[in-house]
Amino acid sequence: MSTARGPLVLGLETSCDETSAAVIDGENRVLGHVILSQDEHAVFGGVIPEIAARAHLRKIDVVVDEALAQAGVTLEQVDLIGATAGPGLIGALLVGVCWAKSAAFALGRPFVPVHHMEGHLFAPSLEDPEAQPPFVGLLVSGGHTMLLHVPEWGDYRLLGETRDDAAGEAFDKVAKLLGLSYPGGPEIQRVAALGDPKKYVLPRPMLRRNQTLNEAAYFDFSFSGLKTAVVDLTRRVGHEQSVGAERPNIAAAFQEAAVDVLASKAMRAVEATQCDRVLLGGGVAANLRLREALSERLGAHGRLFHASPRLSLDNGAMIARAARFRYDRGDVSGFDASASAGLEFPGLRQGGIS
Ligand code: KG4
Ligand code: ZN
Repeated sequence: MSTARGPLVLGLETSCDETSAAVIDGENRVLGHVILSQDEHAVFGGVIPEIAARAHLRKIDVVVDEALAQAGVTLEQVDLIGATAGPGLIGALLVGVCWAKSAAFALGRPFVPVHHMEGHLFAPSLEDPEAQPPFVGLLVSGGHTMLLHVPEWGDYRLLGETRDDAAGEAFDKVAKLLGLSYPGGPEIQRVAALGDPKKYVLPRPMLRRNQTLNEAAYFDFSFSGLKTAVVDLTRRVGHEQSVGAERPNIAAAFQEAAVDVLASKAMRAVEATQCDRVLLGGGVAANLRLREALSERLGAHGRLFHASPRLSLDNGAMIARAARFRYDRGDVSGFDASASAGLEFPGLRQGGIS
């Protein structure tokens, strides 16, 4: 049903524990969008890959049908189909990719494999047309932490990344330590709001004043030491009083340290690139304290772009949008393209300052 304004795109996301499908029109308006979070993992305190893959398989048909129904279109009217091809859990990715390829093949439509993190970069633009390059991109999810300079779509200059745990992973692990449920990010945020962020001070890993632009540590992140510092603090507090009562203060101290590191490194990128437009993407972009800290530091002249929490977390709409971008550039794959747990980020290159 291609119109003068462009094609109708179906996007599928199954890289982790959300089964999602969306239909966007030629002007990138979201016509139908379903996100089904798998609660099968809650009892395990983390995502179990085999369970995730099986749950995607059970749910993908209904999720796509409902997204099409919301959009008021049939599958036959869709012009191209995109799916997250990586990175992510291989069994989970295969469900979306195989579904998309089969449907595209049967209908004689193009199939577009999408890099999950490129999808996160496009999410804010679905709600705010001004969320376009140039910008400094801070991608913070359960699997990745990347600081990018994006002069234009498709040109991703990597300034820094995490050397160990991803930011979201740190939120999830600390939440588990504090006896909070999975996913930990929203739980830490909720509990931290009840605490005093100044009662305990935790270290800011990889953030030192005397670092210089020519060291990789200037933009890189590390979160595993912060998690260990929370373990030590919890033990120390446990000797003197009940950890339960101190949980809000510990959660607030952790959130403050993680946010300080993320916001400080993003501001270093703003200074180094002379670009005061920052785009936050990935699940941790839903964190209110992080948004607040970044907009405070950017001040009145800078711009902060982020999607609503629904579009910050994994979703099919951002995948449909990224698929449209790749399609317009001619990056359509043959049906031999497959899912890859460690898919390379297209257009990513090292050394962002030029
Ligand atoms: O992008 P996403 O939905 O999935 C991945 O691609 O990994 O990100 C999920 C991550 C989880 O680690 C979750 O705890 C974190 O995003 N998260 C948050 C918040 N909401 C989700 N972290 C901090 N604060 C939040 N409000
Ligand atoms: Zn994600």
